[in-house]
This record gives sequence, structure tokens and C-alpha cells, in this order.
Amino acid sequence: MTTPVLRVSDLTKDFGGLRAVDSVSFHVNEGEFVGLIGPNGCGKSTTFNCISGMLDSTSGSVEVLGQDATGMRPDQIQKLGLTRTFQHTRLWRDMTVIENLLVPPRRQFSPNLLLSLLRPGSRPAEKQRLEDAYSLLETLEIAHMAHNLASELSGGQSKLVDIGRTLMGDPRVLLLDEPVAGVAGPLAERIFQFLRSLTSERNVGMLVIEHNMDFILRAGVDRIVVVETGRVLMEGTPEEVRQNQDVIEAYLGE
Ligand SMILES: Nc1ncnc2c1ncn2[C@@H]1O[C@H](COP(=O)(O)OP(=O)(O)OP(=O)(O)O)[C@@H](O)[C@H]1O
Ligand SMILES: [Mg+2]
Repeated sequence: MTTPVLRVSDLTKDFGGLRAVDSVSFHVNEGEFVGLIGPNGCGKSTTFNCISGMLDSTSGSVEVLGQDATGMRPDQIQKLGLTRTFQHTRLWRDMTVIENLLVPPRRQFSPNLLLSLLRPGSRPAEKQRLEDAYSLLETLEIAHMAHNLASELSGGQSKLVDIGRTLMGDPRVLLLDEPVAGVAGPLAERIFQFLRSLTSERNVGMLVIEHNMDFILRAGVDRIVVVETGRVLMEGTPEEVRQNQDVIEAYLGE
């Protein structure tokens, strides 16, 4: 049986009189690639903020890898294995691209790291880490900027580096807030293919916010959670979403 790595139950968030997230429930399984879609202001980023502990939810609960993460601080939730990106990318602007990738700590001590501690002088873990970082930059088609300052990147390039940096932390649950906003169409598709392969290869559970329905329907996700004004409108496979009458009326026209 597949195990949920993330379970959100009846999550609600009020900002004063505004109910931004209204009793939202969904889950993400191990190795599953799930899209979260909805119009501007429907509560997608707020949902991420509540899951990752950046905001206290008004009610409801969040479980990460079977542990109750409700009310935990962001750093505690990260230690459980959950990492997220922000809609507005926050890179270390005065560091180079490759340095940005090398900052996040790995989730666990790897055997390589242990070996390197036992054999001072040779540093296989660091070397491996550097190789991983360059290889991620290659995949994200941004290796030519490795030694540029992050402040020199375009908006789309910053998004790509942010994805790479997040993956260097080796998360079990990954939340990406509009990871390809501002990234040109063909590259955005290739990045989704890469994220798709990552979920199965590393058994990561991935939840990706996207605002473009056409795109998410073709992006190779396993399931889509459709949100409207803070509530889950429907949830299903891309095929089920494509055929849902509410979705057709709201997004796809005739
Ligand atoms: N910190 C906050 N204080 C008050 N209201 C907020 C706060 N954060 C979000 N909101 C409000 O909550 C609602 C949901 O916002 P949220 O950013 O979650 O939407 P979103 O679905 O991510 O939208 P977008 O697609 O534009 O990114 C909006 O009405 C927004 O104005
Ligand atoms: Mg948002």
C-alpha cells in the first residue's frame, strides 16, 4: 500500500474576516507528483505557508511522514523531511549560483560523509556534493551561470536555481510554489519531466502549485487538486479534471 508522506486535514486559515483557506483536505503519497491549481488569491500559497509552519493555521491538521506537524516551527518541519520554495524566489543574492546550491544541509548523514570524517584529507562527500550541484545545474540548463552572482539572474533563471537548491537538501516531501513561472514553455515542460522522474527515482512526494490549467493537464502529474476561493473544488487524475463539468465551466470554456 502507498504511504502518504503529506496529509492535510480540514485545514483552515483566516486573516481577520477573510477565510483564505477553507477546510482543505488532501494527501500526497510517497513517489507521487501532485499539482495544486486555482485562480489568483484562492489560497494556494497560504496553504503552503500553513503546511510548512510559516503561518499558524486557524484549525485543521498537517501530517508529514506519519508525524503530526500541526503547530510545529518551520525548522522542525524541515527536519521531518519537508522542504518548500516560495512564489517570490529568495536566493542569496551576493553568492554565486553554485554557492547557493551548496548551502542547504542534507537531511541525513550520508555514508559518504561518514567516510570523509574517518579519512581526513580526502573529502569524497564534498566532492560528490559539488558534482551533484553541477549536474543539477546541467539538468536545469543553467550550468553556464554557475559562477555568476545570483543577483545577475533573470526571474526565470532564479526560479531554476531555487529548484536546484531545494533538491540539494534531499527532501522526502517537496512543495514548489509556481516553480516555472517566468520560465519559457519548452524548458518549463522539460523541468516538469525532470521533477516527474525525480518523484519516482527518489521516492519524493511532490506538490506543485501551477496557475496554468492547460499546462498542468499536460505536465505529467499523477493527480491534480483544484482549489477555488479557499475550498477544494475537485481532485482527480488529469483525465478526470479535464472531464469535470465545474472545471470545464471555470477554466476550459466550452
Ligand atoms: N499575510 C496575509 N495577510 C492577510 N491576507 C493575506 C495574507 N496572505 C494572503 N492573504 C490573502 O489570502 C488570500 C489567498 O492568498 P494566497 O497568496 O494564498 O493566494 P494564491 O492562491 O497563492 O494566489 P496567487 O495565484 O496570486 O499566488 C488572498 O485574498 C490574499 O490577499
Ligand atoms: Mg500564490
